[in-house]
Amino acid sequence: MKIAVLPGDGIGTEIVAEAVKVLHALDLKFEMETALVGGTAYDAHGHPLPDATLKLAKESDAVLFGAVGDWKYDTLERQFRPEQAILGLRKNLGLFANFRPAICYEQLVAASSLKPELIAGLDILIIRELTGDIYFGQPRGRRTAVDGHFPGAEEAFDTMRYSRPEVERIARVAFEAARKRSKRVTSVDKANVLETFQFWKDIVTEVGKEYPDVELDHMYVDNAAMQLVKAPKKFDVVVTGNMFGDILSDEAAMLTGSIGMLPSASLNSSNQGLYEPSHGSAPDIAGKGVANPLATILSAAMMLRYSLNQEEAAQRIETAVKKVLAQGLRTPDIYSAGTTKVGTVEMGDAVLKAL
Ligand code: NAD
Ligand code: IPM
Ligand code: MN
Repeated sequence: MKIAVLPGDGIGTEIVAEAVKVLHALDLKFEMETALVGGTAYDAHGHPLPDATLKLAKESDAVLFGAVGDWKYDTLERQFRPEQAILGLRKNLGLFANFRPAICYEQLVAASSLKPELIAGLDILIIRELTGDIYFGQPRGRRTAVDGHFPGAEEAFDTMRYSRPEVERIARVAFEAARKRSKRVTSVDKANVLETFQFWKDIVTEVGKEYPDVELDHMYVDNAAMQLVKAPKKFDVVVTGNMFGDILSDEAAMLTGSIGMLPSASLNSSNQGLYEPSHGSAPDIAGKGVANPLATILSAAMMLRYSLNQEEAAQRIETAVKKVLAQGLRTPDIYSAGTTKVGTVEMGDAVLKAL
């Protein structure tokens, strides 16, 4: 089993180190190879996704990814910005299906800004399409407007688009996932305004007919954003496009107590996957040793489950995380009165000990 380890920037290196420590503690044989990605790769090689890093990722069974980005790169030409590395990996590896499970562990109910009764026992799965939509649609750019409200003025534009096969395959992923859960899918769109999402809705409905045992409903994204904080437990599997999924999954992170708790898996059609926390490089806390490593450690568990076929090892990690939370250990982002504040490394050590 070959794992490409790409820590990236900011807290990426701190949190990935803890996940690697946990992986090494399992009685499994891995080949792990580390490479530069993001801003650190740009500094060293002049590109955020060097050829050698992409090659390593392609050759591996799975990629363990930290995070990329820092404000200091925000003025670079877009192709050189750190974020292009993660977008390039998703595109080049064909990682179209992004799973972001929002689970509220019982011990963290008090850490969320929402009322405990709204989130206790929460277990929803956001499935975000990851290689299409306005993220990748061409053409895009800047030009002089020829029409619109201000002809002759400077303007910028992006293209929102989805093809039929792209929507069909992500819809199938969602229905299959729902079959293993409580058999409910909510497809989130903006069909009342956008042609792309009327098309999305029509196709999800069509594919849904192949899954008569799964209940399908549709919701506009603005309402979904509201319902997620009003009555999050009403959802089970949520399937949506790239852009809406990006926004809704950060929102859902707060239902779990902190964005530092939300893992993710991005899979292609051969189950090769990239595993990363749903959060970013958190430049505001980088280097301070306080970042929560649990989203990354839980992403490593998802990697064992989905790409490496090691369900038992995945469950061992998840059980260890629950144990550590039950012991009352908390990084600052999930701290509440009566618990014990620890740093990134102490949290990783505690998971190791619990394993
Ligand atoms: P962010 O997710 O990095 O941080 C948002 C807030 O959450 C910050 O206050 C941060 O301190 C906190 N936070 C995030 N992860 C945490 C953790 N593990 N423990 C404790 N607190 C945590 O989002 P941002 O600030 O909007 O973006 C920062 C940079 O990260 C940008 O360059 C952005 O493009 C990039 N980014 C990268 C990825 C990725 O690599 N997949 C994802 C999101 C953002
Ligand atoms: C995420 C991030 C990325 C995205 C950025 C860094 C490109 O926000 O993984 O959610 O928008 O997909
Ligand atoms: Mn995001």
